[in-house]
Amino acid sequence: MSTSDADRWWHGGVFYQIYPRSFADTNHDGVGDLPGITAKLDYLADLGISGIWLSPVTVSPDRDWGYDVADYCGIDPGFGTLADLDTLVSEAGHRGIRILMDLVPNHTSDQHSWFVDARSGPDAAHRDWYVWAHPKPDGSPPNNWLSVFGGSAWELDEASGQYYLHNFEAQQPDLNWWSEDVRGAFDAIVRFWWDRGVSGFRIDVCNMMIKDAELRDNPPATEGDPLDQQLMGLRAVYNSDRPEAHDILQRWRTIADGYETPPLLIGETNVEQLTTLMEFYGDGRNELHGGFNFVFINANLEAEAMRRVVEDTEALLPEGAWPIWTGSNHDVSRLATRWAGGDVAKVRCALLILLTLRGTPFLYQGDEIGLTDGPIFQSDLHDAVGIRFWPYYKGRDPERTPMPWSNTPGGGFTSPGVTPWLPMGDPAACNVADQEADVDSVLAFTRRAIAGRRHSDDLAVGPYRSLPSPTGTWAYARGERTVVALNMSERAQPVEATGTIVLSTERTLEGTAVEGALTLAPWTGVVITS
Ligand code: NOJ
Repeated sequence: MSTSDADRWWHGGVFYQIYPRSFADTNHDGVGDLPGITAKLDYLADLGISGIWLSPVTVSPDRDWGYDVADYCGIDPGFGTLADLDTLVSEAGHRGIRILMDLVPNHTSDQHSWFVDARSGPDAAHRDWYVWAHPKPDGSPPNNWLSVFGGSAWELDEASGQYYLHNFEAQQPDLNWWSEDVRGAFDAIVRFWWDRGVSGFRIDVCNMMIKDAELRDNPPATEGDPLDQQLMGLRAVYNSDRPEAHDILQRWRTIADGYETPPLLIGETNVEQLTTLMEFYGDGRNELHGGFNFVFINANLEAEAMRRVVEDTEALLPEGAWPIWTGSNHDVSRLATRWAGGDVAKVRCALLILLTLRGTPFLYQGDEIGLTDGPIFQSDLHDAVGIRFWPYYKGRDPERTPMPWSNTPGGGFTSPGVTPWLPMGDPAACNVADQEADVDSVLAFTRRAIAGRRHSDDLAVGPYRSLPSPTGTWAYARGERTVVALNMSERAQPVEATGTIVLSTERTLEGTAVEGALTLAPWTGVVITS
């Protein structure tokens, strides 16, 4: 097997991303909370997951809904208390589920005490913890860097006459990672959580953390550059993707490796090239344990496109490194909408792929029931980016709508009569309770797929190998005895295989013996063992 015993729990496991505001509300304020997550642990254990990635629950004024942190070691009162977090970690542990928190090191909130001090004047103790620069002689920003969220990446601090850098909202000032004090502060933060039993971090925009020390202008974008950079007109090479980010990640890996069970470092490696993604794995042992594969996330649900990304990823990964596969998160349209256009057969195929590739899948809350994006009108908007770019871009609220637990008032997410922070959508159309009662539901399929993976060494940790198959289909071997075959086209197609169908997007096929070949109906997938 290509994995060590110590890594087996997460290599063979499935992670589940929780967006806490939208998961389960126990204190009747229309916003999810930590006790709500703890209350759903039995559901998550039945689903069969091994770990949870918790989007930020640390103190935040919510300019960017948790991704603007005002205290890295405190729980936001809207979510509960540190004791609630401890309870979640220990109750999850009793069910064999480990918790990853979200670490946001690129920037803080402008209300963090470090920035409040930094802003108090050029001689402040924390001034150098952020990136400050003088205006150009004409008073304009120090260079041409643009914020990911639109406009200049510089905000003028009237009092001192200097600008500070923000790669995201102006209320999210970027930290200066050239500062040893910042590095030391984060060493203490990661230890704080790991000492409490948190099993690792998803690291926010870890490719952006450090900026060009000379603050050089970004060059103009050219045709081959990523679309967003072409639209902005600049190639973000000096305020992003600097090589020195790797030193910081390796520093955390060294700290992690000092723990008896090393906590995981999973990066939000939102890069366009697989070769760039691979750099975050270091030599396979000294940097991130895993990085989200945005080339895969951004691929279409097409056999050839996905197979190519998977083959390239497999070929490029350093020895011993482990892939991460995802179809949805709180920043991109949910897979049931973006990949599947609401077609349940396509949703099942997407889930089958995620749950049978070599690597750790991260499901986003609701993927397991095929939840589509929620309906968002302009008056519902909470995401600053959606507010800024409406109607050209609706922002990220559609993928953040509350989890529909049941077809009841409040959707089982919040109490009847309470208005949820974002609209529920229509819980009658898709909810957990109804799917629990239906052996043919997407939820039932997801549970079978996760259970199958847990009980099969081939699926958990066996090597991946593409197999020949007709256009529009995708077939691959996992380990010695397992073959996955998908027809991702609109017409029936034959695939070669021999053995027994142990899992299928079409439940009635399970248990069928296959001798040499099988004709798959459109948008159908099978797992066959011999
Ligand atoms: C990536 C996070 O996933 C996103 O939600 C956030 O807005 C940006 N980073 C800035 O922290």
